[in-house]
Amino acid sequence: AELDNARTGRSGSLAAPPVQFDATQKIDVNPPKGTRDFPPEEMRLRSWLFHNFREVSHSFGFEEVDFPVLESEALFIRKAGEEIRDQLYCFEDRGNRRVALRPELTPSLARLVIQKGKSASLPLKWFAIGQCWRYERMTRGRRREHYQWNMDIIGVPGVTAEAELISSIITFFKRIGITASDVGFKVSSRKVLQEVLRRYSVPENLFGRVCVIIDKLEKIPIDDIKKELMSAELSEEAVEELLQILSMKSLTELEEKLGDSVEALEDLKKLFSLAEKYGYSEWIQFDASIVRGLAYYTGIVFEGFDREGKLRAICGGGRYDRLLSTFGGDDIPACGFGFGDAVIIELLKERGLLPELSPQIENIVCSLDQDLQGVASLVASRLREKGQSVDLVLENKPLKWVFKRAARINAQKLVIVGSAEWQKGMVRVKILSSGEQYEIKVDELE
Ligand code: HAM
Repeated sequence: AELDNARTGRSGSLAAPPVQFDATQKIDVNPPKGTRDFPPEEMRLRSWLFHNFREVSHSFGFEEVDFPVLESEALFIRKAGEEIRDQLYCFEDRGNRRVALRPELTPSLARLVIQKGKSASLPLKWFAIGQCWRYERMTRGRRREHYQWNMDIIGVPGVTAEAELISSIITFFKRIGITASDVGFKVSSRKVLQEVLRRYSVPENLFGRVCVIIDKLEKIPIDDIKKELMSAELSEEAVEELLQILSMKSLTELEEKLGDSVEALEDLKKLFSLAEKYGYSEWIQFDASIVRGLAYYTGIVFEGFDREGKLRAICGGGRYDRLLSTFGGDDIPACGFGFGDAVIIELLKERGLLPELSPQIENIVCSLDQDLQGVASLVASRLREKGQSVDLVLENKPLKWVFKRAARINAQKLVIVGSAEWQKGMVRVKILSSGEQYEIKVDELE
């Protein structure tokens, strides 16, 4: 720690002074603003969502990875003036290191790819589901912590990768009942912007900054955008040209403007042709105004949106071929997406598609007599060994209570340990849906 202090020029004691709590004061039982608890009913929904994320990722041949929620702050500091930088939950730890709660997963993924180095056999197809933290101004579907499903392909330079990623998101939507009339994807390429900047001799190092400014198009007045662009060394003429191109919604129009030999057009045309082969053309549309707010994207960018226009972006991603070198690694072509857990739940609510998820426990086991509690544990253990789930009643309770609980947890069978049956080495089973009852030997329980 002293070494760190010497390096950073910081001083001070290692441990922060203890915070004084008034033991008589009641604590606020709400979680911190913008964060959530997950009581069982919310957790069931979250598990259902994550289960679908995982199933889709596995069906596309992706492997799951994870990273620490706490990372070095430097990983998230980029100079382009991104919103995400100002929303960082960052602090100094007790060893005087600058750390941050991750606002996204991509920098951690890039760090891990660099760390794996040559031992990684490309292409990597990785997915992750992790909690991210952003000090956001809260709106519907935007909170200060959210979970993000990410799928990334590392090591494929062509748009076959983007096409595959979009296909996986669409597979997910279909699985949960969302159709092309509910949701669409707006697709563009940052190479369009790059081409315009090249034509106006704008230095390449301003590219990220210009993208971040343009991403604010629908959020701040157009005159402010123009001012910001001009302060990034763009001439008035270049700004006007840029804004005109950004309003284009058709590839033909773009081609007329830029000519057909531009890389952006080749990529986009190929992506749309692949979409046709995959059979998801109706889900995607070209929209030059999609640029996205993160500085590191270099090629195709896309966003999933709700067609009714009530909600913020459902998911977003793109190609980031030069992120690794910003961390001192060798660049490897890469692309991926992030899909949050909040907006999709809002959309499912809007469409009446939220699944009914009740607890699902197969058996409830109880003893009628306190002396038989041990036998009830034995019965529960046997059933669990056979792969069944069991809620064991742990105290002596009247049968009426047991029936109520069985209904609450949706148990299919009630197994009763009573002395008359147990003398014969048997227990009583009641099928709760039909009321059918029978006696059975413990070893024959299924
Ligand atoms: P992003 O667009 O900043 O991209 O976030 C991706 C998604 O995360 C959003 O579309 C939204 O679903 C969700 N999200 C973001 N912020 C919030 C928030 N405050 N509350 C709720 N949901 C939120 C990225 O983070 C990139 N790293 C994605 C990526 C992966 N690009 C390549 N690979």
